[in-house]
Amino acid sequence: MKDAAAAQTGQTIYLSDYTPPGWLVEDVSLTFRLAPDATRVLSRIRFAPNPEGTQDRFFLHGEKLKLISAAIDGTPVTPDITPEGLSCAVPEGAFTWEAEVEIAPAQNFALEGLYMSNGMYCTQCEAEGFRKITYYPDRPDVMATFHVRIESDLPVMLSNGNPIASGEGWAEWHDPWPKPSYLFALVAGELVNHPDTFTTMSGRAVELNIWVRPGDEGKCAFGMEALKKSMKWDEEVYGREYDLDLFNIVAVDDFNMGAMENKGLNIFNSSCVLASPETSTDANFERIEAIIAHEYFHNWTGDRITCRDWFQLCLKEGLTVFRDASFTADMRSEPVKRISDVITLRARQFREDNGPLAHPVRPESFQEINNFYTATVYEKGAEVIGMLKLLVGDEAYFKALDLYFTRHDGQACTIEDWLKVFEDATGRDLTQFKRWYSQAGTPRLHVTESWDNGTFTLHFRQETPPTPGQPSKQPQVLPIAVGLLGPNGDEVLPTTLLEMTEAEQSFSFEGLGARPVPSILRGFSAPVILHRETDNAERAFLLAHDTDPYNRWEAGRSLAKNALLRMIAEGMAPDAAYLDALKTLLEDETLDPAFRALAMALPSEDDLALTLFEGGTTPDPQRIWEKREEMREAMARHMPDLLARLYAAHQVTGPYSPEAGPAADRALSNAALALLTRLDGGERARAQYAGADNMTQQLAALSCLLSIDAGAQELQSFYEQWQHDRLVIDKWFSLQVGLARPEDAAATAERLAAHPDFTMKNPNRFRATFGALAMSPAGFHHASGKGYALLADWLKKLDPLNPQTTARMCTAFETWKRYDSDRQAMIREALEGILAQDGLSRDTSEMVSRILN
Ligand code: ARG
Ligand code: ZN
Repeated sequence: MKDAAAAQTGQTIYLSDYTPPGWLVEDVSLTFRLAPDATRVLSRIRFAPNPEGTQDRFFLHGEKLKLISAAIDGTPVTPDITPEGLSCAVPEGAFTWEAEVEIAPAQNFALEGLYMSNGMYCTQCEAEGFRKITYYPDRPDVMATFHVRIESDLPVMLSNGNPIASGEGWAEWHDPWPKPSYLFALVAGELVNHPDTFTTMSGRAVELNIWVRPGDEGKCAFGMEALKKSMKWDEEVYGREYDLDLFNIVAVDDFNMGAMENKGLNIFNSSCVLASPETSTDANFERIEAIIAHEYFHNWTGDRITCRDWFQLCLKEGLTVFRDASFTADMRSEPVKRISDVITLRARQFREDNGPLAHPVRPESFQEINNFYTATVYEKGAEVIGMLKLLVGDEAYFKALDLYFTRHDGQACTIEDWLKVFEDATGRDLTQFKRWYSQAGTPRLHVTESWDNGTFTLHFRQETPPTPGQPSKQPQVLPIAVGLLGPNGDEVLPTTLLEMTEAEQSFSFEGLGARPVPSILRGFSAPVILHRETDNAERAFLLAHDTDPYNRWEAGRSLAKNALLRMIAEGMAPDAAYLDALKTLLEDETLDPAFRALAMALPSEDDLALTLFEGGTTPDPQRIWEKREEMREAMARHMPDLLARLYAAHQVTGPYSPEAGPAADRALSNAALALLTRLDGGERARAQYAGADNMTQQLAALSCLLSIDAGAQELQSFYEQWQHDRLVIDKWFSLQVGLARPEDAAATAERLAAHPDFTMKNPNRFRATFGALAMSPAGFHHASGKGYALLADWLKKLDPLNPQTTARMCTAFETWKRYDSDRQAMIREALEGILAQDGLSRDTSEMVSRILN
């Protein structure tokens, strides 16, 4: 039966089982003789016993490798081979291991290890892909220097570090910085480069390149600027200088994730690096800038200091996300970045943290580590660092970071190491703070107030609901930033940080002339769900007067949310108080257009569903969708003249620039256009589409038209115009599914999956089609159950090719327990059908089992 699957599943790895490696690697030499179906990899590895480990059994990871030969100190050996690796008798003391293996990169559709994408060879080794390249101790606490020789007739051959020699048909690379195998990379292909240079703060010249397929040269300039800005920022803000003579970035079309920080040779999903005004939206530009920064920042937080084991993943990811967010805030608008990040956190991380896949920022067990590259590890991991910085203050934060870099450079570290530098730098005890790493679930923060003769008191109570494996929780340290506003709107207490450590705790403010209005959790100072009885008058007051831009936005959002919830639950009409308040805000020309655009966005369908569910109501996805539509309609009807004015005034003319300023104007004018389209039958959108010279305006116009079912012609001409551009055609796929009416979403995805441009082998295209379905709650959860069945069918087809992407997309089902019993029954059937598939991957089987439990 399914022996392979049975052997793969059910093996759980625990943090508490960690033991140091028995042998360390001093130095590695690899030779690659590249051939699509039979690449030979020769390895020569110098091993030495680890004084901190035990030498009971010599084991090297290796999967799907054909061993040709192996030798120790020149003498051939015959190791014991299993599907996971090999073991072998070895001498006491140091020795040299040599092996030759054969692999087939052209048959590797999992896109992990060495594989091919459009004729180009490339690698993805994080987390455990190196073991599909050769036999090796494939764990991050084994760090070594790598020497790499590549043999092929391709013109460009790249690896980590510096080039040392090359000739006809070969190239050699040496990386002087010891690194774990997951940071190894190799690229070979017919590539062209966009070159530049950067002079570091100590005056060293670094050669920079972005390597792309011929034809994509024109899409590199923006990424290159982003790279140089990142290098400069890390010098100025963190004092971190780049440490090689060369930094290469390569764009690859077939890639499971966004990008990868391999030492000196970052590999990017082409969607996360290639940009041009004609083909990329403002949002694409901003995302590309952030991802380039993220991968570059990993050079210090990830590469120079790495993780001891994969349970410590947040050590590098949380910190690096936090760093890239600070960079974006500095390059663009700090409040706008914060608001956007909170929107994403709520949409993805709160969803995860409040369902069957909830896990701590530092998980304690896993079956497949690829399943833990999650919003919790990344985004909540970054929030935890933000809280730490708030608690200790900026100066102490950077002092601790300096200590981290000096103390741990060249090491593979743990969260304990990380917290210890903060304890040593500040004298603070972080024992309780550490619960942020071990307790899963989103804390609920309940607030009440009292007023007594000049003294205002805030009473807080925190509680975190149970999560899988964690029935009860301890109180966590919550940094709560508050300000107080007087009745006339003046701030009577500027932002003050309260440090809550108990389950219940009160804070008083004395000597006030009148009862103030509190502004709580300014800047979203802790990733919690705030519960506070309030009314629309107070929300409108904060929306008008709060000095904290984040809370100002939050006041508007809570007005909108409250209004929507009452429309959904009580059948109320759209709330006029909300519409008036929004109108006043939109009219305020002193406010950043990007901020105003964000204020026009309604809470997501998923966010509303979670809130309803928490309040004891079973959410109806169709009704949530309809009420949001109704609210949009009401917004348009409430302020048609204002919208028309905003649309015209903020439309950017002249040459396109992706800078924050013009992007903000476009965001506001396109948000206005989306509403106006409901009134003008698409007249403005059609004109904008026809005249657009950039993708932001073209795509926004097309979206508007599709949302009123009036864009058939434009949709067709868009396809004809862009059929040569894979990244734009991805947009064409996802837009149609995402904007279909709920009853048509599954059918649209199904129809597009039959389109000649659809391919399961390209993760971007698969996600553009089925990810778009999964992200349209009303379409995916349509009462017919068609969305569930269709997605399950395609995931079953994808799993044998690409387990990683399949498993990740199973998260579409993670909210299932919120819904009614009919939907739950259909989802259960879909999930059980996936689980029953013969030879199901470890990735998908772990994911589906966790969702079902
Ligand atoms: N370290 C990469 C980054 O954050 C992502 C690697 C994702 N790996 C994975 N197996 N999902 O930039
Ligand atoms: Zn990362």
